[in-house]
Amino acid sequence: MNDRAIKKEIENAGNKEELRVIELRYLGRKQGRITLRLRKIKELPEGERKKEGAALNHLRGEIEEAIEKKRHALNQRSEIDFSGKHFDISLPPHHAKNGLPRSRGHLHPLTLMRREVETIFSSMGFAVVDGPLVETEYYNFDALNLPPNPPARDFWDTFWLQDPKRSGEKWSVPNEGRLKKALPTTHLLLRTHISPMQVRFMEKNNPPLRFISPGKVFRYEATDTSHDVEFMYVEGLMVDKNVSVAHMKYILFTFLQKLFSNKSMEMRLRPSYFPFVEPGFEVDMRLAESSKWLEILGAGMVHQQVFKNVGYIPKQWQGFAFGMGLDRLAMLKYKIPDIRLFHAHDIKFLEQF
Ligand code: PHE
Repeated sequence: MNDRAIKKEIENAGNKEELRVIELRYLGRKQGRITLRLRKIKELPEGERKKEGAALNHLRGEIEEAIEKKRHALNQRSEIDFSGKHFDISLPPHHAKNGLPRSRGHLHPLTLMRREVETIFSSMGFAVVDGPLVETEYYNFDALNLPPNPPARDFWDTFWLQDPKRSGEKWSVPNEGRLKKALPTTHLLLRTHISPMQVRFMEKNNPPLRFISPGKVFRYEATDTSHDVEFMYVEGLMVDKNVSVAHMKYILFTFLQKLFSNKSMEMRLRPSYFPFVEPGFEVDMRLAESSKWLEILGAGMVHQQVFKNVGYIPKQWQGFAFGMGLDRLAMLKYKIPDIRLFHAHDIKFLEQF
């Protein structure tokens, strides 16, 4: 047994499995060649035992060391083998292995849509902010001018994390906002919209301001092709000294036009009611004169009461707010027939994007 040859063998091992086979061949507990020879030492004449034992132990140490080194090198090695072969550095990583495409997964259509919306609004100077999915009753309702008694609490069907009719339950939290007199405690719920972020953001920032806040919202309602209990939504707010409905129309129109890359798109406002805006609108669009008007979003001029609730001096500021379902936009843009497909974990559906 020649230690140079063994080391060469170890050096040439192409992967961890090959290395393991070599290790077993020499050092295996039952059949390892070194192991067997060590065992036979006692059969040797007295005078040779010591010498043979020392030589074998030395060899074993060398082999172990070489194997350890090689194992470390194999662990370090990247999946791509650069050794001497032609390698196209411009290929995307998932094409790298043997030049064959490897399936790597991809983004969900709602993530694609959210990123597109963020890009368009960022280009118009809007910041992107995140907010909590579990909201307090105060931010979801009171601060937005929805008083603490029904029917305001029925404005949206809500997943309460506790029964709001019974007070003093352990999940209620102290009122965080400025309407402390209105409620001794404020209950927790899954946010039904992201308009609460208007309040949270304005409490911490002074105008002028512009931001959008995308994320999940939850509504306790029956599902069908256009309703789900959980969907993606984006809220937007712009506040400054002289912001008007004209600004709102321009921003929303520009947004929709960019999103649908459609120059002949039309948009219209219809009067509507949301307690936190005055006046309030429903915004419709249609992509061609021949197609139907589609309701896309709710919007309006921020109610002065909301400005008061966040501590702004009323009448000094004007602003507009809007809220829309990203699922609805994605369905229109990608021609998806059923909102429930987004959460159906159907790989055939998801792979189309
Ligand atoms: N929050 C409203 C909704 O859930 C949408 C909206 C946002 C309306 C902002 C007006 C202003 O439908």
